[in-house]
Amino acid sequence: MPQSFVTKLKTAAQAYTFRDFILLPGRSEVEPKDIDLSSRLTKNVKVSVPFVSSPMDTVTEWKMAAELARIGAVGVVHRNMSVESQVEQVKKAKAAKVEARSVDAKGRPLVGASVSPLDTKRCEALDKVADFLVSDVAHFHNSNLLKVTAKLLPNLSSDFVAGNIGTRRAVKDILAELPRVDGFRVGIGSGSVCITSEVTRVGAPTLFAVSEVATAVGELNSDVPIIADGGIRGAGDASLALAAGASTVMLGSMLAGTDESPSKVVTKDGTKMKAHRGMASAGARSVRFALDRYSVPAKGLEEGVEAYVPYAGKAADVLSNLENGLKASFGYSGARSVRDLWNVASFGYVSPQGTSELGVHSLTLK
Ligand code: XMP
Repeated sequence: MPQSFVTKLKTAAQAYTFRDFILLPGRSEVEPKDIDLSSRLTKNVKVSVPFVSSPMDTVTEWKMAAELARIGAVGVVHRNMSVESQVEQVKKAKAAKVEARSVDAKGRPLVGASVSPLDTKRCEALDKVADFLVSDVAHFHNSNLLKVTAKLLPNLSSDFVAGNIGTRRAVKDILAELPRVDGFRVGIGSGSVCITSEVTRVGAPTLFAVSEVATAVGELNSDVPIIADGGIRGAGDASLALAAGASTVMLGSMLAGTDESPSKVVTKDGTKMKAHRGMASAGARSVRFALDRYSVPAKGLEEGVEAYVPYAGKAADVLSNLENGLKASFGYSGARSVRDLWNVASFGYVSPQGTSELGVHSLTLK
């Protein structure tokens, strides 16, 4: 055999996760009011806050999409429904009577739709109504998908986000083989409801994946914006993802508990909760439309769980907290904007033992 398997183990990449890093404080002349959180979601879609809701059936339908556009973020309507229903959901969001900050040329809310490139009918139907399309496959770096997408793209006019991916090699192949790409959706296996890495022992944790993809984008003199997707639990994770090269962060579980998500509030042991489930969980797959999220050989495999998240009130309040937390992180780092953060941020590695010191310790909480 030509290769040394021992060397492969010894030279393994460090697939770092959010818990492994902090941002180091930097010299700062920045006050929260000086910080501009506007960013690019895709080449042609801009947001005033760097948040995008995940296309999951417990997160984004028309209400979430309209509300996110209102506050300057954007939502991506899920595809676990018929093409006609998804078109209807996008149209409803675009027709919502809100004073939106994220708007199209006609002043209507900006709305995205998730698609599988293998579903040509859905791509073409959603292309006519949505402002951008987001590929919703677990492993986009797949020869067949690249071929199909390359054929599809000349027929689409909306911006197209390719994903999910998690390696430099994926960026190189996509840029070489697709006629255009307007965004990358990045991260495999870090999602709150995701068990892909547990089940298959394959994954690209979001922080690691973003740094890989951002490095490749830079090396290839490209400027395709990166959406960090999966595992973001608060402002700390969001600022780490942005500091590693992302332009926006995609949120699933953080928004699943809010008023604007599709499911109803239920009470469990006296606590208000809302449902949240992986799009590859048994329940989501039983609806049938999400089936091709996972590659053909894996079709029998459950790669997500069904769960509840605490009821979280208004999405606007959750995102306003996140925005304030991000501004604090930017302030400590000395960054005025996302682009600025890419330049000034430096990371500190936290050992597994050290993690507990950075949380509450040595006391009894009241
Ligand atoms: P959070 O942590 O924000 O993550 O809830 C949302 C992201 O998780 C991904 N996702 C899945 N990944 N199995 C997976 O491996 C699943 O069933 C599943 N459902 C969602 C997806 O990228 C989403 O945006």
